[in-house]
Order: sequence, then C-alpha cells, then structure tokens
Amino acid sequence: MGKAERIQGVRGMNDVLPDDEPWWQRFEDAVAAVMRAYGYRRIRTPIVEPTPLFVRGIGEVTDIVEKEMYSFTDALNGEALTLRPECTAGVVRAVIEHNLLYDGPKRLWYDGPMFRHERPQKGRYRQFHQVGAEAMGFAGPDADAEVILLGKRLWDELGLTGVALEINSLGQAGERNAHRAALIAHFDAHAEQLDADARRRLHTNPLRILDTKNPAMQALVEAAPRLDQFLGAESQAHFAGVQQLLDARGVAYRINPRLVRGLDYYNLTVFEWVTDDGLTICGGGRYDPLIAMLGGNAAPACGFAIGVERVLERMRRTHPDEAGARCDVYVVHMGGAALGPALQVAERMRDVGLAVILHCGGGSFKSQFKRADASGARFAVIAGEEELARGEVSMKWLRAPGGPGASRQETVALDALADRVVGALLAADNEGI
Ligand code: HAM
Repeated sequence: MGKAERIQGVRGMNDVLPDDEPWWQRFEDAVAAVMRAYGYRRIRTPIVEPTPLFVRGIGEVTDIVEKEMYSFTDALNGEALTLRPECTAGVVRAVIEHNLLYDGPKRLWYDGPMFRHERPQKGRYRQFHQVGAEAMGFAGPDADAEVILLGKRLWDELGLTGVALEINSLGQAGERNAHRAALIAHFDAHAEQLDADARRRLHTNPLRILDTKNPAMQALVEAAPRLDQFLGAESQAHFAGVQQLLDARGVAYRINPRLVRGLDYYNLTVFEWVTDDGLTICGGGRYDPLIAMLGGNAAPACGFAIGVERVLERMRRTHPDEAGARCDVYVVHMGGAALGPALQVAERMRDVGLAVILHCGGGSFKSQFKRADASGARFAVIAGEEELARGEVSMKWLRAPGGPGASRQETVALDALADRVVGALLAADNEGI
C-alpha cells in the first residue's frame, strides 16, 4: 500500500511551533502585567457566536460582514453561527447578557483567535489573534486617552520602536450624514470630472471616492468638504479633550482625517497604531452606539484590539536574539537498574521547581548526550548503575563557564543533588551563562 495522502492545515491558519513560544510568552506576560496595571479584568467569550450579532454589530455593508466571515448553519439545530471575526461584539453581548454594567462601568480585556476569510499574506491571516481592551460605561475623553496610554505602555514594555499613533474623530451619526450629503452634492456638481468608479459609488459610498488613485480626480477630492468641518461643539470638545490628555503625557500623534476604520460601530475618537512599514498593529476607538444596537441599555464605551501576530513579527525583528525557554536539567541513565532511581531523581528535582527532562528510549551514552545538548538544558545528570549503588550521580555542565569546551563534571550525593543543581543554576545566572 502506498503512503497515505498528507492532510495540510487550512490556508491562512498557522501552527505556533515550540520555537515561537518564547515570543508569545513574553508578549502574553507583558499584556497581563499592563492590563493589571490599568485595572482591566479578563473576560473569555466563545469563539462561535450567533451570526446576527456580527451583522448587526459590525454593520451589513462592511468588508468583514460582506465577504470575510466564516458563517455556517449548525446542521444539528439549524442555528446561524459565525466564527468570531473580532471580539468587541461578543464582549458587548456578554456584558448585556450578564448585566455587567449594573453596578457601574467596567474595564475588560480579552485575547484569543479571530477568523476572517481574507487573502493570506504577510501580516494577514485567516485565523489570527487579538488582544483587546474595552472600557465600558465611560463617556469622557479620559477613557479614550487611557486605552491609548495602555497601548503605548505595552509597546514600551516590549521595546517596540517605529510605531506611530494616528487619531481622528468620526463625530456622531448625524454629523457624518450631513458630511455625506455635502460630499454627494460636491461630487454631483462636478459629475463631469468623475470616473466610472466614482460615479457608481456616488450615492452608495461617496466616502470611498476620497480613496481614489485616479490622478485626474485629485484636485476634486482635495476640494471636497471634510468631516471635521461638520463636527458640532460637543464632538469637537471631546476630540480636543483626548488631545489635551495625550499632550499632557507627551504622547506623540498625527491627526489623520482619512482614518475611518472598517467597522460601523464607531463614533467620535478612532485611532490606530501603525508601524513604519505601514502595518496597523492596533486599532480602536469609541463605540457609544453599540451596546444599545445590540439590545442593551445605552452606555458609552471605547477600546481597541491588537493584531498579535503583527506585534510578534515586530518583536522578532527588534530583538532577534530573545532567549528561548530552556530546561534546567537533562537526566541521562545507563543500565536497566538505573531507570527507576533516575526517575526518582528527576521527580525530586521537579519538587524544588526545576525543569527536568528524563531521557526516554534508552540508547548509548553518546546518543543520550546528543539529546541532552539539543534540549538546551544547562546541566546533565548522569545516573549510572555503579554510582547509584554508592548513592551518587554525576552532574555535568552543558553550557559551561569559559565556553562549550570547558565542561565541568562532579559527583554529587543523591540527597544533595537538587540543592546542588539549584545552587549551580544561581551561580550560572550570576555568571551570565
Ligand atoms: P480591527 O481594526 O478590525 O478592529 O482589528 C484590530 C487589529 O487586528 C488590526 O489592526 C490588525 O492588527 C489585526 N488584524 C485584523 N485582521 C487581521 C488579519 N486578517 N490577520 C492578522 N491580523 C489582523 C477590531 O477588530 C475591533 N474589534 C477593535 C476594537 C475594539 N475597537 C473597539 N474595541
């Protein structure tokens, strides 16, 4: 019989292999610490939600809802379900369902996989991960500034450089509608200058005309009415408040009038953190209408989500030699009678918190040592029958002071082994081995 056909993973959905793990761990540790520092509490919602949650929450005419959702009918009960493309809608659903705002505002955070059927490319996947923060029940610009500062602290903590903040205000729906009407009037008045694409979009999505690459239309686009000219006093004051708070903390930003975000639930402040190679690693803003849109009592809110893979990619580039998590000890054993005691030795070292790999599968001394070396362990413990009979084992430095050639070895009484390894590890840490 021939070899069975191999089954490949789903395109755009990645395995995270053990060599990548140190980066994920470092990132996740920093996230947990920063969220804690700002008083955010973790929430975990299901990966699958009812499809109408996203259609209503994100908006029917958005890229996500129109063409990127993994939606399906549950064959067992006919429910319309979707793999979450983002988590804000799910968190809002949970907040409403459990009445979490009953005793005041809440600061929440989450992380986990999200799913969007996009064309896979660098930094764009079909399963990707987000970390998000949502401040719910807060109306003022202080909350907007807080979530921005939280992101900034995380970049600093991770040592990320080349990340810039862009902000904008989308005002309120009424202000956006007035702007939209003015845009249509402007383009209508110059209909003869519009290309076919723009003419098609004029009444469905006039904002998209502003993104045209057609050089012949640049002057017309430049002269088009800007949204900020339609913001009322309250919207303006809110945006000014956010800027003042950022200025007070010395956070640099650029106001980008073209920043509109791809989800319908936003109002007032929107922002993105963008890298110098043009990738958005974090996007968010205020979404005051969403809670009521999803059936809750109206409450203001703002937040953001980070694209984890994009941040990790950046971390790898900024600190390419991040040390992997290494194990402390690899236990080598020779002779049939040595396995039992070797297992005991390994367990005793684990009792004191050491990370220990016990060699499995037998083999020559040489082949066991090869494995020990490849494991990244700092010490090998050698359990041979004769030594064990004397109540001893040998301990060998695999990452030795003075370089790999200068390996040391010593004999240690079984009872003293765990302490001796801990002491040697501390000494090695001090010597920077
Ligand atoms: P979003 O802009 O759709 O916002 O996604 C946030 C971030 O997720 C993006 O800036 C990007 O870094 C990452 N991302 C999005 N799609 C992909 C993909 N296909 N592959 C890799 N990374 C991706 C939201 O999702 C909102 N829920 C953010 C929010 C929270 N607004 C308020 N609260």
